[in-house]
Amino acid sequence: MRHIFSCLLLLIFLQASAQSPVYKDPKQPIDNRVKDLLGRMTVEEKAGQLNLLSGGFFTGPATSNQGQKEKMELTRQGKVGSFLNIIGANETRSMQEIAVKESRLGIPLLFAYDMIHGYKTIFPIPLAEACSWDLTQIEKNSSVAAREAASAGLHWTFAPMCDISNDPRWGRVMEGAGEDPYLGGLVSAARVRGLQGNLSDNTHIMACVKHFAAYGAIEAGREYNTVDISRFMLWNKYLPPYKAAVDAGAATVMNSFNIFEGVPASGNKYLVNDVLKNKWGFKGFVVSDWNSFGEMIDHGYAADKKDVALKALQAGSSMDMETSAMVANVPALVKEGKITVKQLDDAIYKILWYKFKLGLFDDPYKFSDPAREAATMLTPANRQQAREAARGSIVLLKNEGNILPLKNVKKVALIGAFAKSRADMFDFWVAQGTPNDAVTIHDGLKNALGNDVELNYVSGYNTDGTGSDTLMADAIKIALNADVVLVNIGISGKMAGEDRSLAYPVIPDAQVQLLQALQKTGKPLVALVSSGRPLVLTNILPYAGAILQCWILGTETGNAVADVVTGKYNPSGKTVMSFPYAVGQIPVYYNHFNTGRSIPSGTDPGWKSRYRDIPNEPLFPFGFGLSYTTFGYSGMKLDKTIMGKSDKIGVSVTVTNTGSVEGTEVVQLYIRDVTASLVRPVKELKSFQRITLKPGESRVVSFSLGAKDLSFYDTRGNAVLEPGEFRVMVGGNSRDVTEAVFQLK
Ligand code: BGC
Repeated sequence: MRHIFSCLLLLIFLQASAQSPVYKDPKQPIDNRVKDLLGRMTVEEKAGQLNLLSGGFFTGPATSNQGQKEKMELTRQGKVGSFLNIIGANETRSMQEIAVKESRLGIPLLFAYDMIHGYKTIFPIPLAEACSWDLTQIEKNSSVAAREAASAGLHWTFAPMCDISNDPRWGRVMEGAGEDPYLGGLVSAARVRGLQGNLSDNTHIMACVKHFAAYGAIEAGREYNTVDISRFMLWNKYLPPYKAAVDAGAATVMNSFNIFEGVPASGNKYLVNDVLKNKWGFKGFVVSDWNSFGEMIDHGYAADKKDVALKALQAGSSMDMETSAMVANVPALVKEGKITVKQLDDAIYKILWYKFKLGLFDDPYKFSDPAREAATMLTPANRQQAREAARGSIVLLKNEGNILPLKNVKKVALIGAFAKSRADMFDFWVAQGTPNDAVTIHDGLKNALGNDVELNYVSGYNTDGTGSDTLMADAIKIALNADVVLVNIGISGKMAGEDRSLAYPVIPDAQVQLLQALQKTGKPLVALVSSGRPLVLTNILPYAGAILQCWILGTETGNAVADVVTGKYNPSGKTVMSFPYAVGQIPVYYNHFNTGRSIPSGTDPGWKSRYRDIPNEPLFPFGFGLSYTTFGYSGMKLDKTIMGKSDKIGVSVTVTNTGSVEGTEVVQLYIRDVTASLVRPVKELKSFQRITLKPGESRVVSFSLGAKDLSFYDTRGNAVLEPGEFRVMVGGNSRDVTEAVFQLK
């Protein structure tokens, strides 16, 4: 009997051990699998999941001297959970094999990479892309980028950057969506949707909302500098885009480098635990920025790496990029009782959860397929998408005498070193895009103008911003012989991106002098401005008859510029950052407060908030951009003049294409909450519509505003709706608007 009983027991035991563990069973719900896995992991292995190392090249300062071999060994030991900067189907596969086949529990790695505006097919920089105000297009662009990256073995990208910024001295304004929180939110959400899809196939990747929080408010636009803003500003101006991206389902959020209220963001309990997790209910995981955990020591907030690990975890941050503070110190912190196992489990829960969600436990090489990789990159369809995105991003700032589009020209002079220099076309965040795949402005124009038009080219200046008499003389010579002169000016793409702050975001002197000299030829003069930020264009305004802001447009730059210059595409971009009148005016932005001493327009009294030497207004305001046609606004109406708190108010306006070609207009709606318990900006964008009208066509454009649009945040982050007078303004940019008034009861 006893014998039969022990046989039975043995049978049960054998059966149980033959069954695969719950975490390996694809039929189990993800949460069951995570819990089962957590139950099998040592504290050391758990700490390993918090460790994110750069596997290949560096996108930040070197923080360790670990070589590739050592990183492989750490992977074997389960001491690395994820890598950034290992890319490619084969490369990711080899490293994944080590994690899956040689580590004790076979937990797959996540592979991450900064893909700011495309992987191989490079799209316009995000700032430019936002100038399209075309959310469908923006979402599509991100999904193309995700498809390419996912085919190269990647699971995760550090985008979108949701930092609002008013400061073109900061090189990273190129990565965001400009100065407006509402538009910034819509654009960020579109980018998240495009990147992630529903994360259940192998063509989408995880997004990362960064840099949390308020990194765009760095003082004087100097990279990595201090931020000192109030909660009032935090909630009303800086947080909305991050929130919109989180609400769109972003899987991860990245800490910023800066302090908020004296505490580095990585260790900031208010930002991470209180706001992001508790108030917003963020369900993903938080990753540090490059060594931002370690930099808590430099900030003077943590004593050493052990203190760093403790403070980051206590704040709610979890994954450690390039500091190795977690992997080295968490086991001791647990042993000493400073961190509970429950806290540690909470910190890695979502990291594991997303590894399951991506399907990596069931097929760790799902993303690493060399054949798919080869077939996915830079396809004609991807290029076409990039071209459409690029031409939709261009902003026509001036077009005196309708110089553009080019008409009946036989000889075109193209001047400007950047028009041919592939090395200067791209910015720092170029991912795997290569200049050789890109179309220069010169080549784009050459293709578009064909053989019937003579295109002559000289550089006119050097790419470092300097010039010479010879370069100038050559330029004048070809200009004199041309029907129209196109001058590509600006600053090198290499000056856009991280670690590229500039005290003078201006057109270099040699280029200004070049324009002055060219204007004297009496030829129609078009400036094509290439830059990753709005530059001060005040001193070129008198010389250039037309100005096209061409930003940094990516792989299809030249074709897109040619489409606009020739009129194949009628420009529709509207700038999402104010163009400063002078450097000393920075930061300048449309949604400022009235102050106690504002200048009523058209007057110039004393003792007011103003400059003595320049106007208060920017050179080109937020939302501004011309078209080859013109649009008239008339008959603005509100459907009521008094509205209750739960009502909606209808706003309508008739927009007419008053020119002679079809065109697309971005009809913008702004409000002003005249009196409130916390002061409100003089204008706030609350809605917009992109409409295309044939010549002579009119359309009634209707908007509806409700409680959400009319409320603002108090300093605890609660939306407040206060009765009183509201002004509604509608127009084609933030300056030229028609207005109506209503009361909220
Ligand atoms: C940047 C991040 C980036 C990270 C990884 C940091 O220096 O601030 O935006 O995602 O590096 O490359």
